[in-house]
Amino acid sequence: MRAGSSSGGADDVLSLPAMTRVRLCFVCLGNICRSPTAEGVFRHLVVRAGLEHALEIDSAGTGGWHVGEAPDTRSAAAAAERGIRVDGAARKFVAADFARFDYVVAMDRSNRENLRKLAPTADARAKISLLRDHDPASPPESDVPDPYYGGPHGFEEVLDLCERACEALLASVRERHGL
Ligand code: 4NP
Repeated sequence: MRAGSSSGGADDVLSLPAMTRVRLCFVCLGNICRSPTAEGVFRHLVVRAGLEHALEIDSAGTGGWHVGEAPDTRSAAAAAERGIRVDGAARKFVAADFARFDYVVAMDRSNRENLRKLAPTADARAKISLLRDHDPASPPESDVPDPYYGGPHGFEEVLDLCERACEALLASVRERHGL
């Protein structure tokens, strides 16, 4: 992990230089459905915890078809029903992003495979995880299914899965970085 070394004292807490923020990027295929949803859910939890100053949150896609577009209106509407804002403009994840982020969180195994191919170093590769692997209630290697070609249920499912996994991810980031 880029952000500092072990404190050597309090177990696994990483010491961060003052003002350094922990940076996370959620990654799916198009960056219009799942990863902007995860970004919105995670930011919602971070704001609720009063930790905006400590964390930087972004999302991106491994594909470039939707670059510049707003999130899918179905994702934004489903999230708004839960009081969660999903916005931004789609962008493509590039190799240089590995240097910008401490955590690169893939929505499914295919996204993770694409990221692994793009990772320039072993350090970069070590930053990649699967979102649902952070949720202790999910079986290992579980995907957040792509809702793009399905019905409204898929967008609710994405939100349910993101809410559970993001709660767990935030808890582990807080513990790891002493936040
Ligand atoms: P996302 O969903 O990866 O969750 O943003 C998709 C959006 C668009 C496409 C595929 C998946 N597409 O093929 O255009």
